[in-house]
Amino acid sequence: MDRAIAIVEIFKDESAFQGTEVIVRGWVRTRRDSKAGVSFVELNDGSCLKNLQVVLDRNRPETATMAERLTTGSAVQIRGTITPSPGKGQSIELLAQDIVLFGWADPARYPLQKKRHSFEFLRTIAHLRPRTNTLGAVARIRNRLSYAIHTFFQKEGFFYIHTPIITTSDCEGAGDVFRVTTLDPTKPSLGSSESAYQEDFFQKPTFLTVSGQLQAEIYALALGKVYTFGPTFRAENSNTSRHLAEFWMIEPEMAFADLNDDLALAQRLLHYVVSDLLETAADDLQFFARFVEPSLLDSLKTVVQEPFEVITYTEAVEILKRADVSFAFPVEWGADLQSEHERYLTEKKLQRPVAIIDFPRDLKPFYMRVNDDGKTVAAMDILVPRVGEIIGGSQREERRDVLVEQMHRKGISPEAYAWYVELREFGSAPHCGFGLGLERLVQFVTGLGNIREVIPFPRTPGHADF
Ligand code: 4AD
Ligand code: MG
Repeated sequence: MDRAIAIVEIFKDESAFQGTEVIVRGWVRTRRDSKAGVSFVELNDGSCLKNLQVVLDRNRPETATMAERLTTGSAVQIRGTITPSPGKGQSIELLAQDIVLFGWADPARYPLQKKRHSFEFLRTIAHLRPRTNTLGAVARIRNRLSYAIHTFFQKEGFFYIHTPIITTSDCEGAGDVFRVTTLDPTKPSLGSSESAYQEDFFQKPTFLTVSGQLQAEIYALALGKVYTFGPTFRAENSNTSRHLAEFWMIEPEMAFADLNDDLALAQRLLHYVVSDLLETAADDLQFFARFVEPSLLDSLKTVVQEPFEVITYTEAVEILKRADVSFAFPVEWGADLQSEHERYLTEKKLQRPVAIIDFPRDLKPFYMRVNDDGKTVAAMDILVPRVGEIIGGSQREERRDVLVEQMHRKGISPEAYAWYVELREFGSAPHCGFGLGLERLVQFVTGLGNIREVIPFPRTPGHADF
């Protein structure tokens, strides 16, 4: 095919394109026919939010017959000349010389007609929804955030490592795992579980990973600074606007570092990616500020301009107890913070990102480092307005005996994690890391209330479509 130009490139330098002939390809958003024999087509090619206005002269035979076939949703190529636009709403337009219709869309059946559709409806047409302004902008923002995250870590000297998707460990110890098996569930039982696993592919129980952290620790204790960026699976049966059964997580891990270093790294990362987005995705962000969340740009600028507030879990409990709101869940030292508590802290009380550190050891997984008080662990949860927890991390227990004691306390067999224990026997070192949920980050930067809108094909209880 002849070389086409992305519409975003034209808008980047409109004056340079004045008078030039270009080929563009994309999908028709709308068409308006004027009585004067001119048709206006809004063309979108997904490269940016903005449509390019295409002007078709219906008095010319080359464009006349084509004009009325350019229905909403049709895929077309247009060759034409960029000229100043006399109309309102755009400074340039494309005067069409010839048109190729690749794929017509039947207006009686194409579901994305020019009106606002509910997000629930759009989820049922996930094969077409990226052609809407909102889902297109989400896809571009997800892409840019991913790029910025890699750039940040590469600049900071972290190595990108690939941890397995199929694992035998349940890192978080919460048991919310998806089993991986080739056994036929419709066949009668193979007897005891031991003999059943003998027949299974790996000859032992295996799961989809809930986190790459434990394996990332191995590489941090060899390469110093590493990170993972991959899909993660949790069979939590929580039908909330912030949980997915399949989500993407970024997990940095650093050797010779403690919880303060961990906090500082998280701060720099969020600062970097949000600043980058404010610079590179202004149109898409403004779209979300206008149609989704009016306070969006202010809350993003807060992340860039101000450091997080850091408070201990104990301080958080005290603040919540003093709060003049009645929570559905009571606040008691030792109890998990609920989403209503998190949101009170970050949205009402402190009005900025908050890192809560030093949680009771019984609330957190076995791998977190026990603090000197013997009651808390060196954990951190980072909360942001509108979303709540976006990052969870900790310093890791590097002392073999304390780790084994923690495992016993939590009913985890040290034998099953012998390699993890052994890492503490040969050249152990203080180390720490965290997990950033990519979808929670996309929710934060777009203002979208439901996590199902920020991943192309959401997987939630009862839903694994497309
Ligand atoms: O707090 P979590 O469970 O921490 C871990 O998995 C650690 N192993 C990370 C580490 O230290 N390397 O999860 C980390 C983040 C959460 O803060 C949240 O942003 C996201 O992952 N997350 C989810 N996102 C969408 N759907 C879910 N079901 C999620 N569960 C966690
Ligand atoms: Mg967490």
